[in-house]
Amino acid sequence: MASVAVRPLRLGVMASGSGSNFENLVTACRRGELAAEVRQLVVNNPGCGAQQRAERLGVPVGVLDHRGFQSREALDAALVETFRSAAVELVVMAGWMRIVTQRLIDAFPDRLVNIHPSLLPSFRGARAVEQALQAGVRLSGCTAHLVRLEVDGGPILIQAAVPVLEGDDAASLAKRIHRQEHRILPAAVALAALRLGLLQNAQG
Ligand code: GAR
Repeated sequence: MASVAVRPLRLGVMASGSGSNFENLVTACRRGELAAEVRQLVVNNPGCGAQQRAERLGVPVGVLDHRGFQSREALDAALVETFRSAAVELVVMAGWMRIVTQRLIDAFPDRLVNIHPSLLPSFRGARAVEQALQAGVRLSGCTAHLVRLEVDGGPILIQAAVPVLEGDDAASLAKRIHRQEHRILPAAVALAALRLGLLQNAQG
């Protein structure tokens, strides 16, 4: 989605794992496909792939290990503080494998976007790709949506369908779903920002 801004939209990203969606967002911004800049990554798993990618890409990365916090609220309060310090305007959960609380949602109202590897509302929660295979669906996919307290339950921004092929296992299906996530997540961020007036359409 073509979009322009007076200055780049300041993004924060949360990740727990390999970080391919995080890197794809950074690349989309740097190529000018998204009028934004990833100002801050936060990871909860020290040394995870996302952290390594941030170090290679020169994106500031904070490590907030959930094991060191008393509660989900305490972790989310630290996330809010980190993103506020970086003057972040919109936050993307790109493979964030922790349940978030109202503390984070209230700090970024309609400014918190999640990517999930299923066609919601089917297969919420963890291991969505495995759930889809177990259910025997012929069509899966991914969903970018705004975050609400109900896990994977917020308003849908964009979805992409991915057929389940004969002989697919979790790894092969997840790989094809990832390709679609990389396509829709930058567009969903632009859509969320356009709705809030944080970006303008290139067409005016
Ligand atoms: C993505 O497939 C994302 O949809 C999923 O984690 C993966 C992270 O990949 N998120 C969830 O399952 C959240 N419930 P990445 O680290 O390569 O971006």
